[in-house]
Amino acid sequence: MVDKIVIQNLSLQYADGTESLRDINLNIPANAITVLFGPAGGGKSSLLRCLNRLNDLTEVKAVSGKILLDGENVLDPKTDVIALRRRVGMVFARPVVLPMSIRQNLIYGLELAGEKRKSWLDEAAERGLKLAALWDEVKDRLNDPAIALSGGQQQRLCLARVLANQPEVILLDEPTSGLDPISTGKVETALQELKKNYTIILVPHSVQQAARTADFAAFFLQGELVEAAEGKELFTHPKQKRTEDYVEGRFG
Ligand SMILES: Nc1ncnc2c1ncn2[C@@H]1O[C@H](COP(=O)(O)OP(=O)(O)O)[C@@H](O)[C@H]1O
Ligand SMILES: [Mg+2]
Repeated sequence: MVDKIVIQNLSLQYADGTESLRDINLNIPANAITVLFGPAGGGKSSLLRCLNRLNDLTEVKAVSGKILLDGENVLDPKTDVIALRRRVGMVFARPVVLPMSIRQNLIYGLELAGEKRKSWLDEAAERGLKLAALWDEVKDRLNDPAIALSGGQQQRLCLARVLANQPEVILLDEPTSGLDPISTGKVETALQELKKNYTIILVPHSVQQAARTADFAAFFLQGELVEAAEGKELFTHPKQKRTEDYVEGRFG
């Protein structure tokens, strides 16, 4: 198995002194779903934001360690951050749909990046929608406003928009926290299909979702990586007492 991302001794301190990640070491394999789970405040979102340098936009006092993406340190000041964010796309908890048509939502970023060929843009839009398992539901109304879609469809639209950029890694931060079980199932099914070709890192909204979806899982508690293992192993035979207590619902 190839490790797409290797995180070495990563620590992160925000400007107010909060130490949100402490000496994290984690390998993230390609073509699998790696789940980062644990109670709120554990540092999961902070870690995702390090992976595509979204933390550049917040007040960080100190970051140390390395994040190697295909062997290159993304924390290096010389990293082309715009290019990095195309390679490492992100879907957030609340769908961020632009007040435009479904089609425009998909091609907006590509147009900003200078792409003008209509046929190429149409193909990218179709590819993204198909990969996000939304194509059949919207193919006859691509020019309708995106805000008219249901919450679940909007979230898959956000996934489709990321996919239209042809990323290598997809980060998802509690992407189904606002969705009903059927919509949640559709997103999870899409991820199972996508993992064949992408590296997927998911922060789930529940332990149950973590257990359902994880090929690999890492348990975070208050800035510390307590334990990481294959999903089945971690959810059935956790090595650490703290992991076991959390997985079994003794604290949350
Ligand atoms: N922009 C920020 N500035 C200061 N502290 C922050 C910021 N973002 C998160 N934190 C703090 O960092 C810790 C980890 O938060 P977060 O990464 O959001 O955890 P999780 O996603 O696991 O809930 C928390 O104590 C949180 O309050
Ligand atoms: Mg979070």
